[in-house]
Amino acid sequence: MSPDVVVLTSAISSLEAEWVFIPIARDETSVPVDGVDAATGGELSRAILSGEFKAKQYRVFATPVTARDWRARRIALVGAGDVDRFDATLLRRLASVAGLFARDRKAATAAFVCRQPARAPEAGSGLSPATLAQAIAEGLMFATFDAAAYKTEDHDEWEPERFIVSLPGGDEETRHRASEVVRRGVVLSECVNTSRGLANEPGNRLRPREFADRAAQIVSKAGLQVAVLDEARIAELGMGLLLGVARGSEEPPRLLAIEYQPPRGPAPGPVLGLVGKGVTFDTGGLSIKPSQGMERMKDDMAGGAAVIGALCAIARLSAPIRVIGVVPIAENMPSGHAIRPGDVLRSASGKTVEVLDTDAEGRLILGDALWYARQRGATHLVDIATLTGACTIALGHAVSGLFARPSKWAQTVQDVADRAGDCVWPMPLYDDYFELLRSDIADLKNVGGRAAGAITAAIFLGQFVGDRPWAHLDIAGTAWNEDAKEYLPKGPTGAGVKTLAELAFADLP
Ligand code: BES
Ligand code: MN
Ligand code: ZN
Repeated sequence: MSPDVVVLTSAISSLEAEWVFIPIARDETSVPVDGVDAATGGELSRAILSGEFKAKQYRVFATPVTARDWRARRIALVGAGDVDRFDATLLRRLASVAGLFARDRKAATAAFVCRQPARAPEAGSGLSPATLAQAIAEGLMFATFDAAAYKTEDHDEWEPERFIVSLPGGDEETRHRASEVVRRGVVLSECVNTSRGLANEPGNRLRPREFADRAAQIVSKAGLQVAVLDEARIAELGMGLLLGVARGSEEPPRLLAIEYQPPRGPAPGPVLGLVGKGVTFDTGGLSIKPSQGMERMKDDMAGGAAVIGALCAIARLSAPIRVIGVVPIAENMPSGHAIRPGDVLRSASGKTVEVLDTDAEGRLILGDALWYARQRGATHLVDIATLTGACTIALGHAVSGLFARPSKWAQTVQDVADRAGDCVWPMPLYDDYFELLRSDIADLKNVGGRAAGAITAAIFLGQFVGDRPWAHLDIAGTAWNEDAKEYLPKGPTGAGVKTLAELAFADLP
């Protein structure tokens, strides 16, 4: 069960909360909310003045409330670091820090005070109380994700009852507006967590048929239409790339086709096509991967999971345009049935591909899926995939690669991602590199060599999108968090989910 998330404008003293969190920046030398310091017997100001608490980013200083007439039990200051770096993304993280802190202490209730330092660069302009409130709701909700799904002992389960976004002294208009966006934030973060849950599943628990069935169940519950195409239908459609990748596995492939219609029914206008890589486990196939670190390849369906989560949010928030979700699903295994290096496959689009490396499987199944999304009427395409180790080498684990054309569409996706708090960075679809994909025997080969590996992978995908505006998000480095951070535990991150969802509300160029 999800906790209730409410917006309250009452005084902090009256909040029924085990913990009240207050964000504070380094240059704020006194407790920034009236009456709070006195309620702790001056403990907070003592900590600030003595330097015990310097509001270093993500540090928490907690102390009990001693005032008898307060309902709130404990106060915790959450360090924001330098004031000039204060924005919605930071506030979301601070709320996650608070949420994880509350999680550690098994709190049933927690409040987070909606404020920004007076000298924050965007105070009074960019960051409305509504923006702040949404970021807080999302941050708190992200902390409810449980990555230990299969623990039967010492399982740190946490089922908080209530989160409060506190706007002390706010007027009714502000409260109303904040409540609306808080609901939006809750829906988005629940869908991010759904996506994280899928990406966290081990390869044996989530094989292609199981993934397709579970995904179909999840999206149906959100009110979406969904079709699960089986291997016979996939063959009928001529999807030789998807069939080829699945051949080595005992599990047949699936293709998930999800459809969202806006409440007003079909209308002319843009149709957003979201396509996500759904490789339930990537051994590399006959071009097998080294065993060191291969376990990570259970999340090679994180892109597909992102599409599923995003479509749930799109339906629950009633986006104004039609959206199609396509997830090609396969397991990449070596066996006597597996495709061999040098094999030639024929895609549904008619293009033939020489498979020189069976480990470059994501681009193959996405090629057929992008073609299918076009067939279904998508006018604007976005694909998302844990596609290349090369993207991680280029950009690391903090930021996803964004490859897109034309530049207006690239800008739209970039802006939406920035607002959503998904870090993406533009990468070039440099035309000359198409040469690297020329095959002697077929239209294309599926690898372009080590140099510019993330770019040639993107250019390969670009061969299947026609002239539609198209964006490709490479989340190989960002889908999984390897090193626990104060605001994000180890495990699946849900990278890209909010961006995909928010795109359905953007002006599509
Ligand atoms: N799923 C991998 C990419 C990946 C690697 C994701 C590491 C997350 C972490 C993809 O299918 C793959 O194997 N790509 C190859 C492509 C190469 C053979 C051209 C790669 O990046 O090594
Ligand atoms: Mn691979
Ligand atoms: Zn892969």
